[in-house]
Amino acid sequence: MNFELTEEQMMIKDAARDFAKKLEADVIERDYKAIFPTNHIKELSELGFMGMMIDPKYGGGGMDSLSYVLALEEISKIDSSVAVIMSVQNSLVSWGIEKFGNEAQKEKYLPALATGEKIGAFLLSEPEAGSDATSQKTQAVDMGDYYLVNGTKNWITNAACGSVYVVIAQTHPEKKHHGINALIVDKDTPGISLGPHEDKMGMRSSDTHSVMFTDVKVPKENRIGEDGFGFKFAMKALEAGRIGIAAQALGIAAGAYERSLQYSKERKAFGKLISEHQAIAFKLADMCVKIENARNLVHKSAWLKDNGKSYSLQGSMAKLYAADIAMEVTTEAVQIHGGYGYVSEYHVERLMREAKLTQIYEGTSEVQKIVISRTILRD
Ligand code: CAA
Repeated sequence: MNFELTEEQMMIKDAARDFAKKLEADVIERDYKAIFPTNHIKELSELGFMGMMIDPKYGGGGMDSLSYVLALEEISKIDSSVAVIMSVQNSLVSWGIEKFGNEAQKEKYLPALATGEKIGAFLLSEPEAGSDATSQKTQAVDMGDYYLVNGTKNWITNAACGSVYVVIAQTHPEKKHHGINALIVDKDTPGISLGPHEDKMGMRSSDTHSVMFTDVKVPKENRIGEDGFGFKFAMKALEAGRIGIAAQALGIAAGAYERSLQYSKERKAFGKLISEHQAIAFKLADMCVKIENARNLVHKSAWLKDNGKSYSLQGSMAKLYAADIAMEVTTEAVQIHGGYGYVSEYHVERLMREAKLTQIYEGTSEVQKIVISRTILRD
């Protein structure tokens, strides 16, 4: 087994780390005031990270999934708001269009996504269909050469900054999930409106809104795949997306750990550095082991994907485990920092708030357990 990164992968990791360092200057203020990271996303686009896995023939970086998770880990160590914008763009939207879209759709949408000129959003969740994704209420009624879309989507990352929407909607309710379609929708299509900015607990610098569709006309040519392919499309996109969120959770945990390690070598209590107290040293050891385990799961999932093997099970395991340990590690990081951990200046309270979201979006921890248990019981 080869655990060595290639020279190119190392370069991407370093570039992501250098980029992430610059996020630190305003991350606390952006989080507090919920300011979108416009300039940082511009720089991320210039680095090629907003379309890093897209085929170069559409203007992308043509990088592998392992490079992608390496970059996401580094960025998430500092700022998960930026990481989630990048993650939805790369995995759910661009990868989905490239993998399942037709040539005309790829030529129309991928070049602008690849450069970051356009940002994508993935519209699956609804007020009453979050984890239960088959219960889509948004309608895409077949009107001949177009679909008439009506309904509401909830918790949509990149809803305001994004202009390329991938919308999951029901066309044949009698066929249940076999009647669902995935449509590429330009946000400026008449009839689309946004709910207010969601006042989130963490990742406050990324934009999250509900999106309302009122008699929105979407050309038939914007449907991804055959009629009724939408639910499978969504499952496949989420399968790929989960590796990215797992990498994000890993980065949050690693960021909290690195800060705790540093702090423990500077802070004194009871006449010695706190790292010399076994109570703290053992916490650091536990954190380190959990992060290493999570990293192995994340890298293996990316490796399976890059090598054309099935990664559904490992991706869900990686997402479940990395999100859960991110919560544990960040909680311990706050504890290690004591009172300082509870204020924004030391970053770990923010990382703890960010960790919580990784247990919720792109499939809750409970959804991952459904996927894992069904797979192991079936095989
Ligand atoms: N690949 C292909 N097909 C799949 C699949 C996969 N990974 N998983 C399921 N399917 C297929 C099944 O084969 C089945 O098809 P058939 O009926 O033809 O056999 C069909 O989909 C239904 O599958 P299930 O019976 O397993 O469906 P279920 O209702 O029991 O739900 C679930 C399964 C895993 C819970 C699924 O609903 C799910 O993933 N839910 C979570 C949704 C989610 O992640 N939401 C987050 C929103 S996106 C987001 O957060 C983005 C963001 O902004 C950050």
